[in-house]
Amino acid sequence: MVVYIKTYGCQMNERDSEAIGARLIASGHRLTCDETEADALLFNTCSVRDAAERKAKGKISYLKKLKDRNPELVIGAVGCMAQRLGEKLLDEIPHLDFVVGTGQLHRIVGILEQVRRDRKRICSTEESADVLTGMGDHAAAGGAFGQIAITRGCNRFCSYCIVPYVRGREISRSESDVVDEAKRLVDGGVREILLLGQNVAAYGLNGNTRPPEENVSPFGELLEKLNAIDGLLRIRYTSPYVTYFSDRLIAALRDCEKVCRNIHLPVQSGSDRILKAMNRQYTAQDYLRYVDKLRAALPGVTFSTDVIVGFPDETDEDFAMTRDLLNRVGYSQSFIFKYSPRPGARSAQRPDSVPASVKEERNQILLGDLAARVEKMLADQVGSTVEVLAEGVSRRNENRWTGRTDSNFVVHFEPRDGLKEGDLIKIRIRRAGSVSLFGEIE
Ligand code: 5AD
Ligand code: SF4
Repeated sequence: MVVYIKTYGCQMNERDSEAIGARLIASGHRLTCDETEADALLFNTCSVRDAAERKAKGKISYLKKLKDRNPELVIGAVGCMAQRLGEKLLDEIPHLDFVVGTGQLHRIVGILEQVRRDRKRICSTEESADVLTGMGDHAAAGGAFGQIAITRGCNRFCSYCIVPYVRGREISRSESDVVDEAKRLVDGGVREILLLGQNVAAYGLNGNTRPPEENVSPFGELLEKLNAIDGLLRIRYTSPYVTYFSDRLIAALRDCEKVCRNIHLPVQSGSDRILKAMNRQYTAQDYLRYVDKLRAALPGVTFSTDVIVGFPDETDEDFAMTRDLLNRVGYSQSFIFKYSPRPGARSAQRPDSVPASVKEERNQILLGDLAARVEKMLADQVGSTVEVLAEGVSRRNENRWTGRTDSNFVVHFEPRDGLKEGDLIKIRIRRAGSVSLFGEIE
């Protein structure tokens, strides 16, 4: 079969699609980027905001025409929205052939072949821990960048969030499994590994949510084991929940030279009242204390974050506190989301009281602050020399290459002969743009 895969949403979905693709290839199928030549179209969906669901549904609905012309065509939805809606999605979209949830992704190839053969609609949404290892052992090698899902699911139940319902309880892969997979990737040429999970810093706790200082996650040990792999140059991870930064973990971050000094640390709000309503287990002060501790242990560390504006009942004062916290931490990147009630998540029981126009206004204010801050952070680096892991030809200008610094700034530069993806090179910064840096190889 020739299969087209389209992915919505987060990096975990990107990773899952990659693993699905690798499994399809391993069982004799072929992937295509052209949906008109495909025998099967697969949509790996997201549920985290309403807009993401509408986008995928819109796209799938639109494909009716293609299916009318080619009744043999198989169309399937997998991932988070598939999990959330199950049979309802089949009812809603009559030309959809199958729905496979987040717990059954490892069975996708079999299901696809079965639908193609029997022409019967299938809905498979049971939770299963098998997905954890089942989706791991087909990590795509090739290229210098690899990703490993070290945990799946989430036990935190932030009141706005659908993830614990669509991805189930938190489970972790064993340390030996992760280390073996990392070694395999490095043998295949990977130089940078991104560790993925809804809460990577809870790795190995398997759902135990007692306070972190009594209940230290073995994430620090895992990083130390990965740090020791020859040939691996960089390790990144996303996302950690702030209160899981135990002293043990901070010590590992300090001692592991391959672990990048850039931390994605979702804050969501700077108002204690809103944080409480969100069921986040910290105050703004607590959060800032962790940031101070991390800064003290990791010189040069940069932070990025996720923020929600327009949570039910968020006042101008609440928003001002969020804005103040963001400016205080001085993030080098922030992802700002307008609150979207998710049926099934607890906060959806409250009225979505902040008008869309106010959400948009708050969004624009934070984006403006971010742009000004980033411009200054980039300008401050002109004249310095940074270490960059080469990623490949720049998307905007084919005469240039792109790479990232340890602290996750994007750098464009002219390549030298023989430069390969995954080479670590020193670049002298000549110029700063509004979102990236420009330099020369030293
Ligand atoms: N509305 C808006 N943003 C949300 N996020 C999660 N759920 C919602 C929601 N219902 C954001 C959070 C999270 C990021 C991945 O998406 O900021 O960290
Ligand atoms: Fe959602 Fe909170 Fe879990 Fe993140 S920590 S996935 S926001 S429930």
